[in-house]
Amino acid sequence: MAILITGAAGFIGSHVAERLMARGDAVIGIDSLNDYYSVALKQDRLARLRERYGDLFRFAQVDFSNHVALDAALTDADITGIVHLGAQAGVRYSLENPRAYVQANLVGHVNMLEVARARKGVPMVYASSSSVYGGNETLPFRVEDRVDHPLSLYAATKKADELMSETYAHLYRMPLTGLRFFTVYGPWGRPDMAMWIFTKAILAGQPIPVFNHGRMQRDFTYIEDIVTGVVAALDNPPPDDGAEKAGGSRAPHRLYNIGNHRSEELTKVISLIETACGREALRDYQPIQPGDVPATYADISAIQRDLGFAPTTTIDVGVPAFVSWYRDYHGA
Ligand SMILES: NC(=O)c1ccc[n+]([C@@H]2O[C@H](COP(=O)([O-])OP(=O)(O)OC[C@H]3O[C@@H](n4cnc5c(N)ncnc54)[C@H](O)[C@@H]3O)[C@@H](O)[C@H]2O)c1
Repeated sequence: MAILITGAAGFIGSHVAERLMARGDAVIGIDSLNDYYSVALKQDRLARLRERYGDLFRFAQVDFSNHVALDAALTDADITGIVHLGAQAGVRYSLENPRAYVQANLVGHVNMLEVARARKGVPMVYASSSSVYGGNETLPFRVEDRVDHPLSLYAATKKADELMSETYAHLYRMPLTGLRFFTVYGPWGRPDMAMWIFTKAILAGQPIPVFNHGRMQRDFTYIEDIVTGVVAALDNPPPDDGAEKAGGSRAPHRLYNIGNHRSEELTKVISLIETACGREALRDYQPIQPGDVPATYADISAIQRDLGFAPTTTIDVGVPAFVSWYRDYHGA
C-alpha cells in the first residue's frame, strides 16, 4: 500500500513525500525530471528522501503525459491515495512555451484522472493555482468567485484541470480535491520564483528586477503550511452525499484556496531578505510583466471549516528560514 505522488522531485511534491513518510506511509514518487529548472536540485531532493526513508520511498522517472509509460510504471503498484503535483509550473514561461503546458497540465491531468478511475474509490488531491483568479479585483479571492478570465495559458490549464476533474467526479463518482496554491516558498524551493531570484541576486550584489514598480502583493504561503493542507485534504476525501461542496460541486469534488490569508507587499519581503542576507538590494524597477497579476489574497474559510486548516508561519519567520536554507545549500 502506498501513496502515489506526481512531481515528487519538485518543490512541493518532495515536501509532501517527506511528511507522509515521516508518519510511516510508503510513497511511490514519479517525476520526469525535466530541465525547466536545475535537474541537480531535483536529484538532490530525491537523494534526501532516499537517504532518510530508504525502502519506504520508491521512485520512477516517467512522463505522465505518456499514458503507456505511466501505466507501465504503475502496473504492480497498490495505490491507496494520489497526490498529483507534477505540472509545468510558472506563469511567464507559458508565454514562451505554451505546448509544454498543454502536454503536462492537460494531457497529463487526464492521464492522472484515468489512473485514479482505474483504481475505483482511491482519492486524488491535485494542484490548481491562485492564478485562476486572473484579474479579479475583489480581494480576498473566494472559491465561490467566478474565474473565467485567466491572464496566462498556465492559469487557463489549471482552470481546465478543475473542469475536467469536475466531469470525472460527476461521471465516475471519484473523490477529488483541487487545491489553489498561493505563492509557496521555503527550503528546497524553486529557482524560477521571486524569493529565490532575489536572494541569489542580493547575495551576489546584483540588481533585482522589481515588477510593477514594487506595487505587487502576494499571499506568501510557507511550504510546511501547504503540506499540512495537502495531507489534510488527502486524509479527508469529499463524500459522495449530493451536498454542495466548497467550490459549488454536488459531485464528490471540492476546491480550496490554500494560502496564508495575508496579502503582503513585495517590498516587505525584499526587506526581510535583505536583513537575512545582511546586504541591501539594488532595485531595478520595471513595469508589470504580461500574464502577471498585481495582487493575490486567499480567503481560506472553506478549508478552515472543512479540514481545520490554519496556517502558522508568517513571512517574518518563513523568509529567514528560506534564506538560511539557501545559504547552506549553496555555501553562500
Ligand atoms: N510553488 C507555487 O507557488 C505554486 C503555486 C500555485 C500552484 N502550484 C502548483 O503546484 C504544483 C507543484 O508545484 P512546485 O512548485 O512543486 O513545482 P515544481 O516545478 O518544483 O514541481 C513540479 C514537478 O513536476 C515534474 N513534471 C512536470 N511535468 C511532468 C510530466 N509530464 N511528468 C512527470 N513529471 C512532470 C517536474 O519535473 C517537477 O519536478 C504544480 O502543479 C504547480 O503548478 C505551485
